Amino acid sequence: MASEEKSINIHYKEISSISKLSEMDKRAMDMAISAADKAYAPYSNFKVGAAIVMEGGLVITGSNQENAAYPSGICAERVAVFSAASEYPNRLIEKIIVVAKSKNGEIVPVSPCGSCRQVLLEYEDKQSMPIIVTITYNNGSLIEFSSINSLLPFGFNRDQIK
Ligand code: THU
Repeated sequence: MASEEKSINIHYKEISSISKLSEMDKRAMDMAISAADKAYAPYSNFKVGAAIVMEGGLVITGSNQENAAYPSGICAERVAVFSAASEYPNRLIEKIIVVAKSKNGEIVPVSPCGSCRQVLLEYEDKQSMPIIVTITYNNGSLIEFSSINSLLPFGFNRDQIK
């Protein structure tokens, strides 16, 4: 066969509102929202908060940190995951919850950028266990993806460096 058409399906769950989350996830969501309030985003005014839920229910948060030299800034997801991984290198990461707030404080849609997907994929591969991703979506709803891999299909990973 010279060529074959193939496709990948991405499964995700839409959750109608924060109030529908489990108590554990609601707590992590609240922590992500508080993290967004602590963002340093004077240039974009787009405040992002991320909560990493680790095994045992430990939650580590991060917010975006901007810089006058724009590319030197870093997203909330990477602040959170680097913090979690550097402090607890052997603890499993179960989930990341990401929320964004607009200039007027409203919760708005957000989705991890390509660099954050790449970084998160590294930790997912390292622990051989999927990391669930929950993001804010339209009109107060949320989307839950079952893995980073589904957000970065055919991603470059450590197996390719061998
Ligand atoms: N940002 C995040 O922190 N996470 C995302 O998922 C999307 C974008 C930040 C980067 C920058 O500080 C601001 O949002 C605008 O792009």
